[in-house]
Amino acid sequence: MNKKLADKVAIVTGAMRGIGEAIALKLAREGAKVVVTDIDKEECEKVVEEIKQAGGDCFSLKLDVTNREDWEEAVRTVKERFGRIDILVNNAGIADVEELGDCSKIDKILDVNLKGTMLGYNVILPVMIDQKYGKVVNISSIAAMVSWSKIPTYSASKGGIIGLTKCYVGSLGQHNINVNAVAPGAIETKMLDDLLKKLGMSRELIIQAIPKGRIGEPKDIANAVAFLVSDEADYITGQVIVVDGGYTSM
Ligand SMILES: NC(=O)c1ccc[n+]([C@@H]2O[C@H](COP(=O)([O-])OP(=O)(O)OC[C@H]3O[C@@H](n4cnc5c(N)ncnc54)[C@H](O)[C@@H]3O)[C@@H](O)[C@H]2O)c1
Repeated sequence: MNKKLADKVAIVTGAMRGIGEAIALKLAREGAKVVVTDIDKEECEKVVEEIKQAGGDCFSLKLDVTNREDWEEAVRTVKERFGRIDILVNNAGIADVEELGDCSKIDKILDVNLKGTMLGYNVILPVMIDQKYGKVVNISSIAAMVSWSKIPTYSASKGGIIGLTKCYVGSLGQHNINVNAVAPGAIETKMLDDLLKKLGMSRELIIQAIPKGRIGEPKDIANAVAFLVSDEADYITGQVIVVDGGYTSM
């Protein structure tokens, strides 16, 4: 049976663990050649090994999304190894708790979550325009849509990602490029664990507010991303797909 991403080349940022890792593994299972990137290349190797053991084609790269030179180097290397870039998943992100009046974390969070995605756009979209093909998925968050007063910069950065997702859609359609966002709810990763500890919140409290009665798993997000970057989603662009077990519908 034909795999739905056969021969496509995908770059996933922040892919050494958590949601990014699940996305890299899923895209590889669907037949894509995957470039597993993160700030720590060594940590990406276990993901690369898992993909290779399952018969996939992939390699890892150090890509700090805040560093334009890393992005440019990534384009050179991926084009050399795989010849093209069909899919970009802007997944890398950080989160932290802030009190009103504390401005010490603003630059860092905006740098990774928002500037990182914008740099990716500026470096990768021209490649996709030349190819007349591209699928981009940006990982936002339901934090952009609800009132969580302890993570203001994170929420703003994820709202910014929704703005970015929509901004180029009008001009990219003619180049056969789709850009969408996925907005996860609470997903079981190190980021969630760290945040819950800092907030002194229990998982039970969150689960009570989720109609599906469970915290999400990274694969819940990976499944949505794999659909959006496939040609089955060719007529979907400029959209934000919420994957939150129903949390925001309550
Ligand atoms: N876990 C959740 O509940 C949740 C909910 C909504 C959205 N998200 C978003 O999903 C994405 C993945 O988060 P996660 O939960 O897997 O978190 P995580 O902390 O497990 O993984 C984040 C990854 O991003 C990488 N990263 C951090 N800074 C980077 C940089 N400058 N350059 C490249 N990579 C960098 C980290 O090394 C890590 O591998 C993030 O954008 C996050 O905001 C997560």
